[in-house]
Parts: sequence; C-alpha cells; structure tokens
Amino acid sequence: MINVLFISLGNICRSPMAEAIFRKRIDEAGLSGFVTVDSAGIGHWHEGKEMHPSARVLLGQKGISMGNHTAKQVQAEHLEAYDYIIVMDQLNLQDLSAIAPAYTDRYQLFSDFIPERAGEDIEDPFFTDEFEAVFEMLEAGCVELCETIKQQTQWKEPV
Ligand code: 4NP
Repeated sequence: MINVLFISLGNICRSPMAEAIFRKRIDEAGLSGFVTVDSAGIGHWHEGKEMHPSARVLLGQKGISMGNHTAKQVQAEHLEAYDYIIVMDQLNLQDLSAIAPAYTDRYQLFSDFIPERAGEDIEDPFFTDEFEAVFEMLEAGCVELCETIKQQTQWKEPV
C-alpha cells in the first residue's frame, strides 16, 4: 500500500481540496485499493471543522466528493506511515521540517508535480480567495502525482 498525505497550513482549503481531487483521480485510475490519501494542517486552529465553504462549493460544482472531511493537525509520530508527504508552500516545508525533522527526505512541494510550475507556492486561497486558480493547479499536480506513483511503484493494471 502507498500512503499519501497532503499538508497545508489550516487543513480547510488546499490540503483537503488536494485530498478530494486526488482520491477521485486514484479511483478513476483503478488505484484505490493500492493508494490511500489523507490530509492534515500545520496549525491546530481549525481542528474538527469542515472544509472552507468556498472550497466545498467549488468541489461540488466540479462533481468531486469531499467525503466527511474534518480538519486535523499533523502529528509528527504519524508521519512514518506516509510514503509521499506533499506540502503546499515553502512555509509549510519549513514548519514541517521543524516539527518533524526525521522525515524531511519524504517532504515534497506540491508544485513539483505541476509541469512548468515547479518550485512555486500554491498560494493560500484563505487569504487570496483564488479558489479556482488553486483548483486548477491541484488538478494538474494530481494527474502527475498519480503517474509518478505508478512509475515509482511499477504498478501494473490487474489482468
Ligand atoms: P489551508 O488554508 O492552509 O489551505 O488549509 C488556511 C486556512 C486557515 C488559515 C490559514 C490557511 N488560518 O490562518 O486560519
């Protein structure tokens, strides 16, 4: 089993959107029995809350199921279970490296999965309100992440 964790600051906008988009992607690719997906926040402020209303509306419009997301804070002791730990921006990367330095070799920037946009931050729509632009970036990166996992695990279609 391959375990994927998306991390953002609050776990109510970018990381749960990425989780929902990527879950749909792995379902469509036939990988849902092989890949798990989860999300968490650097901060604890929104623990127990559902996704940001604008994120919920947008995912609904795009026909993407949100499951029963409730925000949670990342727990350093749980990180060992994840093969791909994907953060939304450089600040997340710094914060996570301070919280859990043992796993820095597993931390990856989400934009490194978006062709032509490697190294960029996924700007926080909690502050910018640019939910649609974030959605487009997350969708593009999720396609590539799915392909990367297939290649790195040498996944084969069941016959
Ligand atoms: P996210 O959005 O990191 O994309 O989930 C945020 C949500 C809330 C806050 C920051 C970012 N906040 O500061 O409360």
